[in-house]
Amino acid sequence: MPALTTTADGFLLRGEPFRIISGALHYFRVHPDQWADRLRKARLMGLNTVETYIPWNLHQPGPAAPLDLDGILDLPRFLRLAAAGGLHVLLRPGPYICAEWDGGGLPAWLTADDGIRPRSTDPRFTAAVDAYLDLLLPPLLPHMAEAGGPVIAVQVENEYGAYGDERAYLEHLEKALRGRGVRELLFTCDQADPRHLAAGALPGVLAAGTFGGGVERALARMREHRAEGPLMCAEFWIGWFDHWGGPHHVRDAADAADDLDRLLSAGASVNIYMFHGGTNFGLTNGANHDHAYAATVTSYDYDAPLTEHGDPGPKYHAFREVIARHAPVPDGPPPEPAAKLAPRDVVLDRWAPLLPGTAPDAASAAAAEALLGPPVAEGDPLPMDRLGSPVGFALYRAELPAAGDGVLRFSGGVGDRAQVFVDGAPAGVLERERAEDALTVRVPRAGAALDVLVENLGGTNYGPRIGDRKGLLGPVSFEGAPLGPWTCRSLPPDAPEASAFVPTGRTTGVGPAFHRGTFEVEAPADAFLALPAWTKGLAWINGFALGRYWRRGPQRTLYVPGPVLRTGANDLVLLELHGSAGLTARLTDTPDLGPEPH
Ligand code: GLA
Repeated sequence: MPALTTTADGFLLRGEPFRIISGALHYFRVHPDQWADRLRKARLMGLNTVETYIPWNLHQPGPAAPLDLDGILDLPRFLRLAAAGGLHVLLRPGPYICAEWDGGGLPAWLTADDGIRPRSTDPRFTAAVDAYLDLLLPPLLPHMAEAGGPVIAVQVENEYGAYGDERAYLEHLEKALRGRGVRELLFTCDQADPRHLAAGALPGVLAAGTFGGGVERALARMREHRAEGPLMCAEFWIGWFDHWGGPHHVRDAADAADDLDRLLSAGASVNIYMFHGGTNFGLTNGANHDHAYAATVTSYDYDAPLTEHGDPGPKYHAFREVIARHAPVPDGPPPEPAAKLAPRDVVLDRWAPLLPGTAPDAASAAAAEALLGPPVAEGDPLPMDRLGSPVGFALYRAELPAAGDGVLRFSGGVGDRAQVFVDGAPAGVLERERAEDALTVRVPRAGAALDVLVENLGGTNYGPRIGDRKGLLGPVSFEGAPLGPWTCRSLPPDAPEASAFVPTGRTTGVGPAFHRGTFEVEAPADAFLALPAWTKGLAWINGFALGRYWRRGPQRTLYVPGPVLRTGANDLVLLELHGSAGLTARLTDTPDLGPEPH
């Protein structure tokens, strides 16, 4: 019998009445040296449980790759810390997780398979899922409640009713978990809508809801769907996420606390989404593609009770008060904000150009070459998944046969943002977001080099476009004449070695290029990287990928977790795609995620 069981209107944990008061905390969005701190703060707010997804795409980077459980992916360690912090755990292994995460967690190496139907009984999909679960579950079973661990429930799929209605697929997943030794309570989660619930729930499996307001109505719908059983909100949305070029979302703390009170007063169990959102470090953010493509920003602060940098925000205090009305909350003062690094400037006075053809000398050209994947020669450009690295960038080169003004046409469009260079000079940008597929350029001479640098801005994580291809997506023509052959190369997003950089010798930054500067730290502490002079790119500190920056906003600073810094010399590297008005970056003590709406 599982540790957690259901009654006509609630849960029992090992036979005792129990209400789940949980908060979402994705270990893969938090520096592992900060896990214990965040978990302690979860318990102090009054949570008795934390919930996390498991991102398949990170844990299994290739079809034949072993399971990666290192560092920020050391889920068994996270589970041990949760248990030590007095918390139960809800696990959501997907395989699809949505979560504003690259591809909804489905690996690009899988979804790139032509014609595959993700999230279905397509045998290519289920075989890959089964092989993944064969790797994933053995190290997790010792952490199940049955074995004395903290995991009391496991989710099957994620809001499947919003996507499909293939019952046999959900049954396959249920059997896959059970057959591999998961004996804890299983649950599905769906938006509190009768059609979603009908398509996404499974007989004999707890059906939980996802909603953020309209509490009474949502609970009534859950009751219409199941006349008996616990009422459980598997995602109680207390904030929201942001897209590049969109508004910064905030939700009033008193309003969210009021809804939480309604939910708990109705006797429901809850998972607050998010308790602590964390960061889409590196290139892990997802995107939405409803009427248009829109990429999610680097911060996943979510306006959650615990901010992206782990300090209690207004909701922390408001929620703690609400929870205390319904359940015991640990004694003691609420956590204080953590110390921040004193602000300082960093001058990025060394650089390494990215396009081999634009390097100032042979050594820099060779260094730029070394960053690129092996060249693949093709008649038409290949999508990124065929070039070795589906994440990051790809660089395409062809010759322009004729001089003069003309239209470059990208017949399949671009995934997701293409910078065009003619003989090394910037000629324009095309964006999937605006469905752009043509650009007028001036070609100075017959035989000029056309370079197209394409950025994968993040895999769509919701709806039918999951797994959409990246890179150049079809043949390219100039004035109607097809271009080719092409040299296609992937650019896995790593910061180059320090030895690849040479003095910049200018007062402004030219892109696309890496820029590097060093700074001293007396005692590591949290900081925020502000880049007002810079345009768009990626940032690393001491080799740790902080994520994308973009002056388009709304996000203006990148979170620098204290554990990334070290006492003494530290290095900051930017991959700047366009250019900068100066060579200075600033470490500040205040985050800026964008103007709050009035
Ligand atoms: C849904 C998904 C989550 C997340 C939220 C929005 O509920 O299940 O993974 O995408 O929406 O933040």
